[in-house]
Amino acid sequence: MSDILVHTEAGIRTITFNRVDKKNSFTSAMYGAMAEALASAVDDPGVRVVLLQGHETVFSAGNDIGDFLNNPPAGLDSPVFRFLQGIATFPKPLLAAVCGPAVGVGTTLLFHCDLVYAGDNAAFSMPFVNLGLCPEAASSLLVPQMLGYHRAAEALLLGEPFMAEAALEVGLVNRVLPPTEANGYAQSVAKKLAAKPLSSLIETKRLMKKGQEERVLRTIAEEGESFGRMLREPAAKEAFGAFMERRKPDFSQL
Ligand code: COA
Repeated sequence: MSDILVHTEAGIRTITFNRVDKKNSFTSAMYGAMAEALASAVDDPGVRVVLLQGHETVFSAGNDIGDFLNNPPAGLDSPVFRFLQGIATFPKPLLAAVCGPAVGVGTTLLFHCDLVYAGDNAAFSMPFVNLGLCPEAASSLLVPQMLGYHRAAEALLLGEPFMAEAALEVGLVNRVLPPTEANGYAQSVAKKLAAKPLSSLIETKRLMKKGQEERVLRTIAEEGESFGRMLREPAAKEAFGAFMERRKPDFSQL
C-alpha cells in the first residue's frame, strides 16, 4: 500500500510512513501493512535489520483520529495490536529515524526500538490524557522505566511535549542530527548492523530484553482494554470532536 512503503535491500527492510499530507497519522490499514512487514521479516533470512522512518518534516501524528472513531480497534487481533505486538517481540535489530512531530504511538513505538536517530526538529508527545485516553504500547511501563517517574508524569499526565535534545538526555534517542541527515544516518547504522552475524545480534537482543517481554505484552493488553473502553467515553468524544472542529476541548463537566 502506498501509505506504507516497504523496501528491502542488502539485508535492510526500510518501512517508510508515506502519508505526509495527513502528517503520517496511522490508519488501521497502515497498521496492518506494518504488522505484515514486520511479521514476514522475522523468519526471512534476507532481512537482518528493520528501519522505521517518516519524512524529514514529520514522523507521525499518531492514530488517525477519524479512522479511530469510525473503525475502533476490536480486540488483540486487530491491526494496531498486531503491529504493537510485532514491534514488542521483534527479534532482530529495530531502528527508527524520527524528524518533526512524533505524537502518541509515534513516540511510544520508539520505546520498542533498539536504536533511534532524531532530526533536531523532532518533537515527541504522548498527549493521551489530553485526548481523554490512557497510555498504550506499554508506555505506562516503559516511559517511567526510561525517564524516571516524575519526568514520565510530565510526559504522560501533563501530556507535555519534549524536543530532540531532551530525548537524547533521557536516552530515548541515540543521536541528534540535521533533519535532512537523520534517515540517511539511520540507514548507515543499519548497514553496519546488517554486516554483523545475525545469530549474535538476535541472541544479544534476547538477553538484553530477557524477563521483560511477557510484562510488556501483558501491559499492552491491559492498556488496550482501558484505551478501547475510554475511546467510547465522553472525554475522548469531546477531545476528538474538538480536533475535527478545530476548537479547544471543554472537559469542565467531565
Ligand atoms: N488524525 C487524522 N488527521 C490528522 C491527524 C491525526 N492524528 N493529525 C493531523 N491530521 C491531518 C489534519 O486534520 C490536516 O488535515 P487537512 O489538511 O485535511 O485539514 C493535516 O493532517 C495537517 O494537519 P495540521 O494539524 O494542519 O498540521 P500542523 O503542522 O499544524 O500540526 C500536528 C501537526 C501533528 C502537531 C497536529 O496535526 C496534531 O496535533 N495532530 C493530532 C495529533 C494527535 O492528537 N494524535 C492522536 C494521538 S492518539
